[in-house]
Amino acid sequence: MLQQLDITNFRIIEHAEFTPSDGLTLIVGGNASGKTSLLEAINLVFTGRSFRTHKLDQIISTQQSSFQLLAQFSDKNSHNHLVGCERTNKKLRIRYNSENLSNLSLLATQVPIHLIQPETHYLLENGPKFRRQFIDWGVFHVEPGYLASWKTYHRTLRQRNTLLRRGAATPLINAWNAPMAEQAEALHRQRAEYLTLLTKYFDVVSSGIMDEKPSMSYYRGWDEAIPYEELLNKSIKADQELGFTKFGCHKADLVLRVGGKTPQLYYSRGQQKLLVSALRIAHYLVLQFLAKPTGILLVDDLPAELDKKRRQQFLNTVSKTKIQTIITATEPELLQVDMWPSHKVFHVERGLLHEVI
Ligand SMILES: Nc1ncnc2c1ncn2[C@@H]1O[C@H](COP(=O)(O)OP(=O)(O)OP(=O)(O)O)[C@@H](O)[C@H]1O
Ligand SMILES: [Mg+2]
Repeated sequence: MLQQLDITNFRIIEHAEFTPSDGLTLIVGGNASGKTSLLEAINLVFTGRSFRTHKLDQIISTQQSSFQLLAQFSDKNSHNHLVGCERTNKKLRIRYNSENLSNLSLLATQVPIHLIQPETHYLLENGPKFRRQFIDWGVFHVEPGYLASWKTYHRTLRQRNTLLRRGAATPLINAWNAPMAEQAEALHRQRAEYLTLLTKYFDVVSSGIMDEKPSMSYYRGWDEAIPYEELLNKSIKADQELGFTKFGCHKADLVLRVGGKTPQLYYSRGQQKLLVSALRIAHYLVLQFLAKPTGILLVDDLPAELDKKRRQQFLNTVSKTKIQTIITATEPELLQVDMWPSHKVFHVERGLLHEVI
């Protein structure tokens, strides 16, 4: 749970001390007031990354030489921690409980950030790569060894693909099949376990916020009737012609259907936003079920694309989950937040943040 975030020279925000509610925090302000920048700062301090740019120097306020963020958060045992980051010139420095941190993945599992933005439908529209990233990000939070398995599998895949591309002799390529299959089966098992849980919660959440029930299934990246090693042995000729490994965990996908149709082609923007939101909230519920750090839900411009009824359904569903939630909107009357037992409202104007009491 985020308790306080101090922001200095971060885009339009010259200085802000932000103390959100444990429940819902609503950030209200006109266009270009700094709402997305505030969410970007929260995301950055807990992930080391911006969701808007890879060039972190663009974030430093004009005419300043660095930005600083300092967050205080509590873990599930109510222990307090401090994480800070500073970007000067070309360097990003991250400190966690007074130590320099080089491995960002440690930080990312401490406070997972669940982000819902107006561009959220890209998860559906931009192809399997994005959906695979969503799966991997999910499993990464629940399986401590997942990142290592993922890296090993992809290293082996690269080696096999290099041999295929260079036209290496068949026995040389086949020698990679057994180790690769072992890694693929392990990776798939971890993904499948996570997705069984995710599907269970997705069904609950989506029925609360969507009119039409979507279905979700997981494609492992090859025909499940055939053990992966056997498939690699069988498809060697086809792979040699292609110059790469056609099937495997690198082709996995999250297959979503609504009434037998593909939502990215059939659904409206609002429906797509709700569907992706259901996925994000379901992931949070999986973390909660497994007693993992659950993190913060950030919703940028909730009213965008959603009508009054859907906004309310969304808020009702989220309020039941107990997740710390920070939502932005251009007008306060667009959202009714009274049902939240604990909530705060902030107004932001030209980068200045004020709590509305
Ligand atoms: N490095 C920077 N230094 C100063 N200002 C910046 C910097 N980068 C962006 N800005 C400005 O910060 C302002 C706030 O942007 P932000 O995206 O946070 O607004 P917003 O409140 O989310 O607006 P909207 O409702 O349109 O989404 C914009 O006017 C933008 O041009
Ligand atoms: Mg914005």
